[in-house]
Amino acid sequence: MMDVGSWLRGLGLGQYEAAFRENAIDDTILPNLTAEDLKDLGVGIVGHRRKLLDAIAALRADASGQAQPPDAHQATDITAKGTAERRQVTVMFADLVGSTALSASMDPEDLREVISAYQKCVAETVRHFGGFVARYLGDGVLVYFGYPHAHEDDAERAVRAGLELITAVAGLKTCAPQQVRVGIATGLVVVGHLIPSGESEERGMVGETPNLAARLQSIAEPNMVVIAESTRRLLGSFFQLDDLGMKSLKGIGGPVRAWAVLRASSVEGRFEALHATDLTALVGREEETELLLRCWSKAKTGEGQVVLLTGEAGIGKSRLAVALVERLAGEQYTRLRYFCSPQHTNSALYPIIGQMEHASGLAHDDTPQARLDKLNAVLEQTSTSIEDAALFAQMLSLPNDGRYPLLDLTPQQRRQRTLEALTAQAAKLATQHPVLMIFEDAHWADPTSLELLNRTVDQIKTIPALLIVTFRPEFQAPWAENSRVTSVTLNRLGKGEVAALIARLVGNKELPADVMAEILERTDGIPLFVEEMTKAVLEAEGEVEARRIVAAIPSPAVRVPATCTHR
Ligand SMILES: Nc1ncnc2c1ncn2[C@@H]1O[C@H](COP(=O)(O)OP(=O)(O)OP(=O)(O)O)[C@@H](O)[C@H]1O
Ligand SMILES: [Mg+2]
Repeated sequence: MMDVGSWLRGLGLGQYEAAFRENAIDDTILPNLTAEDLKDLGVGIVGHRRKLLDAIAALRADASGQAQPPDAHQATDITAKGTAERRQVTVMFADLVGSTALSASMDPEDLREVISAYQKCVAETVRHFGGFVARYLGDGVLVYFGYPHAHEDDAERAVRAGLELITAVAGLKTCAPQQVRVGIATGLVVVGHLIPSGESEERGMVGETPNLAARLQSIAEPNMVVIAESTRRLLGSFFQLDDLGMKSLKGIGGPVRAWAVLRASSVEGRFEALHATDLTALVGREEETELLLRCWSKAKTGEGQVVLLTGEAGIGKSRLAVALVERLAGEQYTRLRYFCSPQHTNSALYPIIGQMEHASGLAHDDTPQARLDKLNAVLEQTSTSIEDAALFAQMLSLPNDGRYPLLDLTPQQRRQRTLEALTAQAAKLATQHPVLMIFEDAHWADPTSLELLNRTVDQIKTIPALLIVTFRPEFQAPWAENSRVTSVTLNRLGKGEVAALIARLVGNKELPADVMAEILERTDGIPLFVEEMTKAVLEAEGEVEARRIVAAIPSPAVRVPATCTHR
């Protein structure tokens, strides 16, 4: 017999033990509790109810010896109970459109070929974005992002994979063009090692999220990615979305909001996508700001400077760089911003390409011709040679429509020449106005971009330019010894600064003193956590819920923000 009290404590929800006992909830009743019952039991916090419902679903799956995902036709057991854990996972469900019709009209041999080409395509796309194919269900595929390997951008990865999958499947060389539907949802799920009857180990997941992803897939139009609100919340402004409104879905309690993903948006970088909508006024960092301004002044006189800005995730590196830009408002200078991406650590010159696309104002619906015209317009401002323009066009994967000479180069020569063209470009820009280069998140830089950075650090002493490189502590910058290089490590904010940050976020709303004290204590001087937590508390309905939210936050040592759940 199971002890309900210790089960609750195991979930970190021991505060409900008395309520469960007083209402005679024992292990026979527990598996049948509904969300309504939990409300009656005084579980007012949605997050706690969700957690309990997921864990109850796991109990049920355990008891029946069956594990979801939905429609699983292989019987599997969560046999190794000890290895089951709760995780935030983004689940993607993809299905081939019209496969029933296909199976009726097609020769079984051909059909098998279509399905197998499709499955291979899904597997490759998903692997490319760091996802995990958990199961094939006929022509449906269940994919996890965030398990077994978590990334801080799993939701974004899932959506990018979904969009890419549509293109990849459309390009399959099958007898007729194929289409897919994709559904994506994020949530806390119980995952465990499932030992199936077959030889290979699979991992299964219990909770509403896989089912929600499957249902969202079913309401998608062909070649559409539909996402849940839980996923949308993690995406910032990375994508352009279409609100599909509230939907009632089979097997999902209550109507849920659904969104269609139209395309990736053209935000300049991660910081803009995730934080730009409501930037909090800068708190503290006076010394660091002054230092950046001093380096800028020096750089402008022709003594180029490099500042290495380092510190843990969410400490405020990007915010400080933005603070410098704010201080330079009104000055005449050229700003070049480069953003590395955790999904493109091996994609040659990824941040440089992004910068050039952005500077040229390339739009998603531009024809290749229009893209070339726009690129040329930008390059003409620096009288770029036609050979260099050809190299840049190729770097941006733009087709040569005959306007450029055909360069007969080996890949190695091309790389070399492109790097030279890029440094020459920076030097030319610097003859017009001083240049501020902000190179963000060097810990995710690809090797070619790092080589370009090396060259730029060498080159900078001769041009009026300031290069700021931001990175997390896991990256070892090889330039620290250079005399033009200043290293700045951002430390956690002091108590007074955190209090000021909270006060700015709260504005003229009310926040009880003890809740404020608790946020101060638990976020330990990391501005990202302070922001997330204060916002969550401000969204709470009433003081009681606000207190519960704060109390539910684990200690800072183990905590990571919702946007970077690594556990
Ligand atoms: N000194 C500050 N004053 C006000 N807000 C701040 C400050 N520092 C950081 N923030 C806010 O905290 C959040 C996280 O900061 P930021 O994104 O700059 O961190 P980061 O060090 O660049 O993290 P990452 O390594 O993930 O890029 C942002 O919303 C930012 O606006
Ligand atoms: Mg940053």
